[in-house]
Amino acid sequence: MFIPSLFVVFGSVWPSLALDNGVGLTPPMGWLSWLRYSCTINCEEYPTECISENLIKRTADAMASEGFLEAGYQYVIIDDCWPETTRGADGRLVPDQARFPSGILELSRYIQSKGLKFGIYEDYGNLTCAGYPGVLGHEATDAATFAEWEVDYVKLDGCGAPDPDEGYPMFGKLLNETGRPMIYSCSWPAYQSHPNYYAIAKACNIWRNYGDIENNWGSVLNIMNWFGSNQDEFAQIAGPGNFNDPDMLVIGNSGLSVDQARVQMAVWSVLAAPLIMSVEVSSMEPEFKEILLNKDVIAVDQDPMGKQGLRVWTGLDGQDQIWHRELSGNARALAFVNSGETTVEASYTYEQMKLPLQDYILQDLYKEEEKRTLRAGEDFKVKINPTGVRFYKFVPKIEEDIVRENEIY
Ligand SMILES: *[C@@H]1O[C@H](CO)[C@@H](O)[C@H](O)[C@H]1NC(C)=O
Ligand SMILES: *[C@@H]1O[C@H](CO)[C@@H](O)[C@H](O)[C@H]1NC(C)=O
Repeated sequence: MFIPSLFVVFGSVWPSLALDNGVGLTPPMGWLSWLRYSCTINCEEYPTECISENLIKRTADAMASEGFLEAGYQYVIIDDCWPETTRGADGRLVPDQARFPSGILELSRYIQSKGLKFGIYEDYGNLTCAGYPGVLGHEATDAATFAEWEVDYVKLDGCGAPDPDEGYPMFGKLLNETGRPMIYSCSWPAYQSHPNYYAIAKACNIWRNYGDIENNWGSVLNIMNWFGSNQDEFAQIAGPGNFNDPDMLVIGNSGLSVDQARVQMAVWSVLAAPLIMSVEVSSMEPEFKEILLNKDVIAVDQDPMGKQGLRVWTGLDGQDQIWHRELSGNARALAFVNSGETTVEASYTYEQMKLPLQDYILQDLYKEEEKRTLRAGEDFKVKINPTGVRFYKFVPKIEEDIVRENEIY
């Protein structure tokens, strides 16, 4: 997998093949309404849960005041169920009048006034997945409307899409022609059995490869296993401005334990995945907030090289897995995942970890142990909780020594 010359070849051809709109150079981070709030539209019965400007403003306030913006979570994105069920007389999309009385431009400016960015949802079909008006037949009007609303991020779903291979690039071109840089999130490959990832990366910043995530561990594990099993089809496409998207972070909701939440955060960071929460930000349990705000793990996700990591090893019964990402500065991030219900005590060889033979200084990214040194060729011993992870940054000892010298002189 790690043949240097192969990547030199990619490095030299890639820029002309990938979307170049200046945004999403590292995986976008933020919040999206869907997993937590779905299509709740009854504000009388569910005043704090319904998709409304109150929910979006409350979330933006909490993201700005509770350290999320500072940690890099920037985009606040409304998913489906925001518009009226019919377009206006002028053919334009209209936000639900009762739930978004101030209008979308006001809302987007409110969010941006906090230093955050604003995202919205649409669908390349006649109807969105929940049955609201889709962009089909109104593509130019809707792209222009999003730019007028000062949108920074567009998620385009694929329910009822007639021809994704044609529609997604066309809508991307229309977004480009507005002159407003917007992250373009495409659900294109999730609706196809053999997606052309090169064409997708040319049109989109990020793309949903697979089905919707749900609020439970089985769903997180299923997505991880799918990414591990199919990685050779798309991992090499990732790079600055282009990322595979395994879907939202479940962290902070009822469906994951602390150990399981740590697994998702670690593996998503190895995958260079967008880190998009979907949770009640203003009242999250501190142990989950700590995971989402872990600076060292976020730094892995946001590594400027933008290279997606791989599942490099799985145990015989598939219970333990090693996920490995190359980082800038010749460092690596390795997540040792235990997908099973019993504790794993393991010892891994350099070969199993796919590590170049040299000494490393290991930094435990969840801070359960002090720094340790691994000598070239030495087996790596680790104990992993049931449905848990140990996550380390491996820094070549020689690099660490150089840094130390620079600090001295
Ligand atoms: C979209 O709606 C139009 C008008 O009703 C119809 O002709 C067309 O077949 C629909 N397209 C799809 C992909 O459903
Ligand atoms: C539009 O595309 C051109 C060519 O790829 C690019 O240079 C420019 O930054 C894009 N503009 C926007 C607003 O996306």
